[in-house]
Amino acid sequence: MLKTVSKIKTILDEYVVGHNDIKEGIMLALIAREHVYIEGAPGTAKTMLAELAAKAANLKFYFYQFHRDTRLSELIGEYIISREETNIEIDGGNSKGELIRQKLLPGGIMTAQMVVLDDITRAPGEALNILLRLLNEREYQGIKLPLLTAIATSNPTQDDYFNEPLDLANLDRFAIQLKSKGLLTQGNWDEAMSVLDYYVDHVFDKDSIEGFETDLFEQPIDYMLNVKMPTKVRKRLMRFLGKLIEDYHLNETNSLLTDRTFLVKAVRVLKAKAILEGREEVIPSDLSVLKYMTTFRVPEEVADKIEEILENLDEKKSRRA
Ligand SMILES: Nc1ncnc2c1ncn2[C@@H]1O[C@H](COP(=O)(O)OP(=O)(O)OP(=O)(O)O)[C@@H](O)[C@H]1O
Ligand SMILES: [Mg+2]
Repeated sequence: MLKTVSKIKTILDEYVVGHNDIKEGIMLALIAREHVYIEGAPGTAKTMLAELAAKAANLKFYFYQFHRDTRLSELIGEYIISREETNIEIDGGNSKGELIRQKLLPGGIMTAQMVVLDDITRAPGEALNILLRLLNEREYQGIKLPLLTAIATSNPTQDDYFNEPLDLANLDRFAIQLKSKGLLTQGNWDEAMSVLDYYVDHVFDKDSIEGFETDLFEQPIDYMLNVKMPTKVRKRLMRFLGKLIEDYHLNETNSLLTDRTFLVKAVRVLKAKAILEGREEVIPSDLSVLKYMTTFRVPEEVADKIEEILENLDEKKSRRA
C-alpha cells in the first residue's frame, strides 16, 4: 500500500514544484476516499495537481469544466427516450397508445472513480446542489457510484463576478479543504526558479504520464479498520475541538465544526496520515492534518493559527505540572 502511495507522490513531485500541503491533502483524500476542495489564485497548478493525481493513481477519471449554464444532465450521462406501443383501455374499448420512457444511460460522474470538478463555483445552484448531494451519498437514482474522490477547484469567489461561494452545507461535503497560493506571491524564489528552469527545457504533456496498476483502490474502505487510533489520540482530538469551541468561541454562526466532519471523517483522514507515513497506528503528531479540515470551516484568523493551537494543546497541563 505504501508503495502505491509513494509512487503517486513521486509523480506529483516530478511535475509540480512546491505546494507540499496541497500534495499531502490530495494524497490523504485519495487514501481516505474523501473529497477535496482547492481554492486559490489562477495559475497556481490547482488543475494540474488534480489531473496528475488522477493519472498517477490510474483511476477511471472524469474531468468537467463548469460554466454558468452547466446542466446536471451533462454531468451524469444521457437520458435516452424510448417509445413503446401499448394498448390502453378507454371507455371500455381498447385503443392503441404510446408509452414514452426516459432512461438514464450513466456516464460522467456516475461511472468515474475520480472526478475533477474544475471551477466549481461557476456552476448554477440547481445543478450544484444535486451534484454535491450525489458526491456525499455516492448513489443516484438507485445506482451506486464507483466514485472514490472528487477534487473541486475554484478561484477565490470574492474576486470574481461570475462565481459564487459554496454554501456551508456544500462546503462541508469536502472533507479536505486547501488554499493554493502562488510561488511568486509567497516569495518562494528558489521554487519559482525551478519551475522556470523546467520550462526552459520542457513542454509539459499530461498525456505522457503513465499511471500504474494498483489494487489499493479496489479494496473496500474497511481496510482502514486495520489502522489503530489509541485513546490518547482520541482524547487529544477532543481537546482540540473543545479548545476551538470554548477558547476561540466557535459556534454554529461563525464556523462549520460539524459532527459528521470532525467525529467521522476526521478519523479517516487521521488514519490516512498514518498510512501515508507507513504506520499502522495514528500518533498524536498526526493531528497536524486537521489543518486541512479546518481551512474554510473556521474564521480565517483561527485557521491561520491551527498549527500553533495543535502544538500547544499540552500547555495548560505542563504549566500545572
Ligand atoms: N508549482 C508549479 N510547478 C510546476 N508547474 C507549474 C507550477 N505552477 C504553475 N505551473 C504551470 O502553470 C500551469 C498553470 O496551472 P493550472 O492551469 O493547473 O492552474 P490553476 O491553478 O488551475 O489556474 P486557474 O485557477 O486559472 O484554473 C501548469 O499547467 C504548469 O504548467
Ligand atoms: Mg484550473
